[in-house]
Amino acid sequence: WVTSSLSVVVVGASGDLAKKKIFPALFALYYEGLLPEEFQIFGYARSKMSDTDFRDLISSTLTCRIDAAEKCGDAQEKFLKRCFYQAGPYDDSSGFAQLNTKMSEQEVSKPRANRMFFLSIPPNVFIAAAGGAAEQCSSKTGWTRVIVEKPFGRDSTSSRELSDGLSRYLREDQTYRIDHYLGKELIENLTVLRFANLVFEPLWNRDYIKSVQVIFSENFGTEGRGGYFDQYGIIRDVIQNHLLQIVALFAMEPPVSLDAEDIRNEKVKVVRSMQPVQLDDVVLGQYKGRKEKNFNLPGYLDDATVPKGSLTPTFAAIAMHINNARWDGVPFLLKAGKALDNRRAEIRVQFRHIPGNIYKHKMGSNMDNTSNELVIRIQPKESIYLKINNKVPGLGLRLDSTKLDLQYQSTYKKELPDAYERLLLDVVNGDKRLFIRFDELEAAWELYTPMLHEIEAKKVAPELYPYGSRGPVGAHYLAAKYNVRWADLEEESL
Ligand code: BG6
Repeated sequence: WVTSSLSVVVVGASGDLAKKKIFPALFALYYEGLLPEEFQIFGYARSKMSDTDFRDLISSTLTCRIDAAEKCGDAQEKFLKRCFYQAGPYDDSSGFAQLNTKMSEQEVSKPRANRMFFLSIPPNVFIAAAGGAAEQCSSKTGWTRVIVEKPFGRDSTSSRELSDGLSRYLREDQTYRIDHYLGKELIENLTVLRFANLVFEPLWNRDYIKSVQVIFSENFGTEGRGGYFDQYGIIRDVIQNHLLQIVALFAMEPPVSLDAEDIRNEKVKVVRSMQPVQLDDVVLGQYKGRKEKNFNLPGYLDDATVPKGSLTPTFAAIAMHINNARWDGVPFLLKAGKALDNRRAEIRVQFRHIPGNIYKHKMGSNMDNTSNELVIRIQPKESIYLKINNKVPGLGLRLDSTKLDLQYQSTYKKELPDAYERLLLDVVNGDKRLFIRFDELEAAWELYTPMLHEIEAKKVAPELYPYGSRGPVGAHYLAAKYNVRWADLEEESL
C-alpha cells in the first residue's frame, strides 16, 4: 500500500444494502486501520445529491460498535471527509465518465490507484452498469475489481446470460460474486472445525452421520421487500445460495490447501455430486396473516408490493442427496422460511444410534433421542455444541443428555465482525476463497432449475402457515420420509 491508493465505489449508493451493510462495514474496516492510508469512497446512484447530502446519508448509518462513542465520533468525521458522490444513470456511460473524472481528482497522492466497485443495484441494470464502470472507470495504474451480489439470474439460462454479459467487460479474476453467508464467522470456521481437529473428520461420513439439517428461519416477513422477493421466492433467495454454500463447505473433501482455487475445486466437485432436487422432496409454504387480540400480523399477500394471488413460497423444506462414497444415503435436509416463530441459522449433524447400547435402560425419561448431535449455530448467539449422554452425578446410575458447549460470547468476549467486513477486506486483499466461482454458480443452478421450472409450470400452491408459527406441517412429513425429525429449537441456547 505504500505506493497505492484505494477507491471504493458503491453503485446503488442510496439503496438498502448500501446503507445497512456496505457503508457501516467500510467504516468498521477504516476504524480498525485495515484500509490503506489513502482511500476514498464514492457513492453512485441516480438521485441528485451533493457530497454533503451524501455524507449526511452515510453518517446516519454508521455505528460505533467497537469503542466508546467519543473516539469513534472523531473517526466518523474523518471517514466522512473521504466520501464523495456522483449522480448518474446506470445504463448510460456518461455518468460513469464523470465519476472517473471525480475519482481521478482525488487519486493524486500515490502512483497506483486501485479501484473496487460494489454493484448494489437491481439485476436488470447489472450488465449495463458493469459495462459503464469497466469501460469508463477501470484503473489505468492499478487493479480494478467488481463485487456483484445475487440474484445471479432466476435459473440456469438467465444466470448464464448474466455471466456472459458480465464477462464482456470483466475477467473472471476481477469478478467477486459475494454470498454474505460465507463471510459469517461460523461458516468460515466450518473448515477449521473439520480440518484442524482430529476428532471430527473421521466421523464425517455416512458410517457415523445419519442426517444433516441446515436450518434458516426468520421471525419477520418480507416487510416492504415483497416486490423483489416475489420474483424469486425463498428457494432462489436463500436455499440455492446461502444454504447450498453451507452444505458444500460441510460436505466437500479436504482441499489440497487453503488456496482459493483448491477450496473452490472441492466445492464444485461436491455440488456436482448432488442429485438435482426432485419435486417430491420439496415442501413449499407461504405465510398468512394472524389476528390476535392485541396485534395483527400481515400475511405475505397483504404486502402491497406483492401481486394478488401470488404463489411465491416464503418457506421451503428440501431433501438433498449427495451421490458419492462419503455421503451416499445420508439425507441433507434444508429448511428456510420467513415469518416463523424464531430467528436462527444453524447446522445440525445427527449421528447414528449407539450399536448395542448397554445403557439403554438407564436413559432419563426426557431422552427421546439418545444419539449424539453436533450443532453449529451460525446466528444468533454463535455457538458450537455437541450433545452427549452423561451420567447424572450422584449415587445410582442414570443418564442424561447434556452438552459440550462452546459459546462464542462467553469464550471470546469480543464483538464479531459483520460478514460484509470480512468479505470487503478479502476483495481489497484479492482473496477469492470466500467468493463463488463461475462454475460453482452454474453447478448450483443445475440442481434447482428443473424443479423450479416444474413448480412454476404446475402452479404448485404453497401450504399456508400462520405468521409466527413453525411453518407448514408438510415439512414434518418430508423429514419423516427420511426417518428424521426436525430438531426443535432449544430455547435456552438462543
Ligand atoms: C439475504 C436474503 O440474502 O439474506 C434475505 O435476500 C434474508 O431475504 C437475508 O433476509 C438474511 O441474511 P442474515 O445475514 O440477516 O441472516
